[in-house]
Amino acid sequence: MLEKTKVLETENFLKKNYPDFQPDVVIIAGSGLSALADSIKQVMKVNYAQIPNFPVSTIAGHEGSLIHCRVNGVNLAILAGRTHLYEGYSASDIVRPLRVLRLLGAQMVILTNAAGALNPLFGTGNIMLISDHINLTGENPLVGDNIEEWGPRFPDMSSVYSRELMEIAENTALKLNIALKKGVYVGIKGPSLETPAETRSFRTLGADAIGMSTVLEAVAAKHMGMEILGLSCLTNKNLPDCMAETSHEEILEVAAKANELLKNLILEILKSRSLVRGKCSQQARKQ
Ligand code: HPA
Repeated sequence: MLEKTKVLETENFLKKNYPDFQPDVVIIAGSGLSALADSIKQVMKVNYAQIPNFPVSTIAGHEGSLIHCRVNGVNLAILAGRTHLYEGYSASDIVRPLRVLRLLGAQMVILTNAAGALNPLFGTGNIMLISDHINLTGENPLVGDNIEEWGPRFPDMSSVYSRELMEIAENTALKLNIALKKGVYVGIKGPSLETPAETRSFRTLGADAIGMSTVLEAVAAKHMGMEILGLSCLTNKNLPDCMAETSHEEILEVAAKANELLKNLILEILKSRSLVRGKCSQQARKQ
C-alpha cells in the first residue's frame, strides 16, 4: 500500500471513531518517559495495536498508546511510546503517527527522548534542550515520491527547532529552578551502544548528546511545517574513553526519575506559550 494511502486510512479511522479528537500539540514520549501522561486527566486512550497502520513498539519502556488530554485549553495528543529503526521499522513507519496527527490539525510537536551525554559538562538526570541535530541514522523519511500536500521536496533544515519555543523553554526552566542544558543531538540507528572511538568521533562532530530516535520525526515534522521543541533526558554519561558500561535498564531507571521534572517543564511551557500567543493575538486585534 502507498504511504499516502496508509496515512489517510489511519486519519479516517481516527476521525470516524474519535470525532472529538482534534489535537493542537503532539508530545512524543521516549524511553521510560511514557508515564508523562499518567497524572494528566485523559480524555481518550487507544492502544497502537487497535489503530490501523500504527507501528507497535517491541521494546521495554515503550508503552504504545495514543492518549488525548486537555491541558489549559490545549488539546494534547501524547504518543506514549515510539518505534525505532533498530526494531526493523522503516523511516516511513516511524513518522506515520506524527503525519496522521498533523493531518488531524496538530501544529506543534514536543519530541522527548532518553539520550547519552557526550558533553562532559552535562550529567546524568539533566534535561537538554535540543538546539539542532545531526542525522547519522543513514535514513530519511522523505526518501521516495514527495507528497506535495504534506510539504516541499527539499525542505529547509536551517532552523528545525523553534527559536520561540526554545526561549520559552529556557525561561520556564529558570522559573521552575530546573538546570536546563542546551545542545546538539546526534541520532544513530543502534541498537548497539557506542565504542569509545565512535563516542570520540561524535563529540568531534559537534554533538552534545546521542540517541536512537527523534531525528526522523524532526525531519518529517519540519517537512510538514510544524513547530518543534526537542527535550532529551540525559540518562547516562557517554564520554570518550570513559569505558563505563551502560545498560538499557539503567537508562530506563534514570528516565523514569526525570519524568516528573520533564512533565512539569512541558506543562509550564504549554501554559507560557498559550499566554504569549494570547497576548500576541490581543495586540494584533488592537492594531
Ligand atoms: N547511546 C545511544 N543511545 C542512548 C544512549 C547512549 O549512550 N543513552 C540513551 N540512549
